[in-house]
Amino acid sequence: MKFIKPCLFAFTVLLSISCTSQKEKSSLKDVYKNDFYIGTALDLNQINEKNKKEDSLIRKEFNAITAENIMKSMFTHPQKDKYDFTLSDKFVAYGEKNKMFIHGHTLIWHSQLAPWMQKIADSTEMKAFMKDHITTIVSKYKGRINSWDVVNEALNEDGTLRKSIFLKTLGEKYLVDAFKLAEKADSKVDLYYNDYNIEEPAKRAGAIALIKKIKAEGGKVDGVGIQGHWRLESPSLEEIEKSILEYSALGLKVAFTELDITVLPNPWDLKGADVNQNFEGSAKMNPYPQALPDSIQNKLAERYASIFKLFLKHKDKISRVTFWGVHDGQSWLNDWPIKGRTNYPLPFDRDLRHKKAYDSIKKLKETKK
Ligand code: XIL
Repeated sequence: MKFIKPCLFAFTVLLSISCTSQKEKSSLKDVYKNDFYIGTALDLNQINEKNKKEDSLIRKEFNAITAENIMKSMFTHPQKDKYDFTLSDKFVAYGEKNKMFIHGHTLIWHSQLAPWMQKIADSTEMKAFMKDHITTIVSKYKGRINSWDVVNEALNEDGTLRKSIFLKTLGEKYLVDAFKLAEKADSKVDLYYNDYNIEEPAKRAGAIALIKKIKAEGGKVDGVGIQGHWRLESPSLEEIEKSILEYSALGLKVAFTELDITVLPNPWDLKGADVNQNFEGSAKMNPYPQALPDSIQNKLAERYASIFKLFLKHKDKISRVTFWGVHDGQSWLNDWPIKGRTNYPLPFDRDLRHKKAYDSIKKLKETKK
């Protein structure tokens, strides 16, 4: 009896110590491990493990990776008869070494094409390109890459098909052909259609029609990638939720593939703004060059929390949530749509410290324990 009290005390102390250290040790990927993959996009330096601190953060926090650029066609297939897999081999080896889910981005996209591809002018040449490109790359990483963005950004904002070089040379058939070629090269890998703003009603309707058509014509589509380049105020949670439900009703896995949230003014929101106008160097368009004010930091944290709360509600339908970059300093949003700004769209800051946004995403899980 005498021993019970001190024992109980010691036990409680031990438990609280272990809980505290557990808390410090835990990471996004750990707390979300039973829900969906937590991914990030890696740039060249990160693939080359240039910065030790950054590398250990990547390995600690994320269990899925996408190459931010190096698997795009201009890098993997620089000339008609020449592929270059030096960087993509490193990327895949990095994922394997760290037991991560490896996503391939991207096979058929009108942007970041090699110059020689932009000169393809007829259907025979384009057909040959697609067959060679998709077959070579998907076969090369067969069984090693877990999912592919087979087609990226084929739609306009109104849901009609983008007049890309692929549509111009081959007509709509290029879409189903791309999925068929990818399946033929690796029948087990998950195949995705990936696009931005496809949580908005018109574009979503277009994406649903397009995916249905590809499937009806015999293409295998396993999932839809909603890029998730979002803002503090939009899109609404309602539209995001409708999208999760509608895409998953087609039997698709839903992934959020390029998540980031801009906190800067958008040139397209400015009434009467000419988007061709040069905003570079405009202080009005770059309001936080030194630091993000607390009020916006909090807004960002709340926005991320509400988005992840929704993701958790539909975790059975969501395969992966990938941030478009590891930290704010790396984000493409520092240079798009206006060059040279200071943006703060991710859960880690420029010094690799976690932000309130990170804590708010994690807290959703920790309070549930
Ligand atoms: C962006 C990269 O982040 C930039 O570094 C690059 O200069 C341009 O492309 N949709 C996509 C991504 O599918 O590949 C884009 O990535 C962002 C928009």
